[in-house]
Amino acid sequence: MSAPAALETIAVALRRAQASCHDSAWTMPAAFYTDPAFLALERDTLFGREWLCVGRIEEVPEPGCHMAWRLGEEAIAIVHGQDGRIRALSNVCRHRGTLIVTGKGKGRRLTCPYHHWVYDLNGRLAAAPQMPQRPDFDAAACRLPEFPCETWMGFIFVNLDSDAAPLAPRLADLEPRVAPYHMEEMWLGHLDEEVWETNWKSLIENYMEAYHLTPLHRTTLNNLNPTGLARHVPAGEHWFGYEVGFPEDAPRMTRGHHDLSDTQAATCLMLMVGPGTGIGLAADYSSFLCLQPEGTDRVRFKSGLLFWGDAWPQDAVDRAIELFDATMAEDRMVLEPLMTGYRSAHHAPGPLAPAHLEGPILDLAQYVARQMTPALEAALDRQRP
Ligand code: FES
Ligand SMILES: [Fe+2]
Repeated sequence: MSAPAALETIAVALRRAQASCHDSAWTMPAAFYTDPAFLALERDTLFGREWLCVGRIEEVPEPGCHMAWRLGEEAIAIVHGQDGRIRALSNVCRHRGTLIVTGKGKGRRLTCPYHHWVYDLNGRLAAAPQMPQRPDFDAAACRLPEFPCETWMGFIFVNLDSDAAPLAPRLADLEPRVAPYHMEEMWLGHLDEEVWETNWKSLIENYMEAYHLTPLHRTTLNNLNPTGLARHVPAGEHWFGYEVGFPEDAPRMTRGHHDLSDTQAATCLMLMVGPGTGIGLAADYSSFLCLQPEGTDRVRFKSGLLFWGDAWPQDAVDRAIELFDATMAEDRMVLEPLMTGYRSAHHAPGPLAPAHLEGPILDLAQYVARQMTPALEAALDRQRP
C-alpha cells in the first residue's frame, strides 16, 4: 500500500472506531501497525507530547541516585535531587554531546566521562576543566535542559513537551480505583528490559485483553486470572482497562492493603495509562510495563513486579517472577509472528469479541483517534494534491 493510501486507510478506520460500540467493533487494518508514516505521527503526537512512565521511584531511591533512560531520540537522566525532588534532565552533555550517565548510579554530581564537565543534580554546570581560560565562557548558559516530571503511585512519569499540562489532574478520575491498592507502598521485586519484534500497539492490545488468558496461558496465568472472570471497565479519557477475578482457590500471599474491599482484593485491575504505561494491579503483587516504539515492528520496554507487604519468602517471589516470565514468553510467541500476518496481502480486519473480552482493543483505537486525529488530518491535508 502506498504511504498516502495507508494514512487514508488508518484515518477511515479510526473514524469508524470512534463511531463504533463494543458490540460491533472490528480490529484495525494492518497499516495501523505497519505504516512508517503513521509511526512518525505517533512519535510526534503521542510519545512526544504525552506523559510516559520511565520507571519506579525505587530505582532512584535516595538523593544522589540517577538512572538513564531513553524516550524516542531523547536521552534522559532521571535524578533524585538533594532537595528530595526527582527531575528528568537531558542526558546530553552541553560540551560535545556525549551521554553523561549510563545505567544507574549514585553521586553528588553528574560527571561526563569525555572531558569531565561536572553538573550538579539540578542540571547546572558546576565545573568544566580548563574552560574558564576562555574569556567568554558562560557556565550558566550550559545548563542541562529539564523535562516535566511527576510521580504517581510510585511511578515516575516524564513528558518531552515542556508545555505539557500536569499529569495528576488527567488521572484524577482513575485515582479512586487505584489508590486503595497503595502501589506507592509496594516494593520492586523484579525489573527487566526487553526489545520485542512487534508493534507497540500489539503489545498493549495483548496486555489489555482477557480473551487470550485461558487459551494462550492455559498452564500459567489462567490459574490466577482465567478469561471467564473478566469484566470490561468503562474507559476514561487518558486511560482504559479491564478487571479479571482470581478464583477462590487461587494461591495468594496476602490480602493486601486494608483499604481494599473484598471484591478489589479478589480482582486484578488491568490498566493502560497514556500511550505507553501498562499496570496490572492486584492486592498481593502487581506488574507493569513502560514501553517505547523503536520501529513499526520493534518495541522496547521496561517491565517489573511490585509486591505488597513483608509476607514474601524469596521462593514465593521467585515463583511470581517465573510465572510472569513464562506468561510473557507465551505472549511473545504470538506477538512477533503477528507482524508477518500484518504484512500478508490476505490480512483483513476481523470482528472483536464482546467488551468483557476485547473491549480495551476498541478503547485503544478510540484513545489513539482522540489523541491523533488533528495531526493525522493535517498530514492527510499536506499529502492531498
Ligand atoms: S562531551 Fe561531555 S565533557 Fe566533553
Ligand atoms: Fe498474555
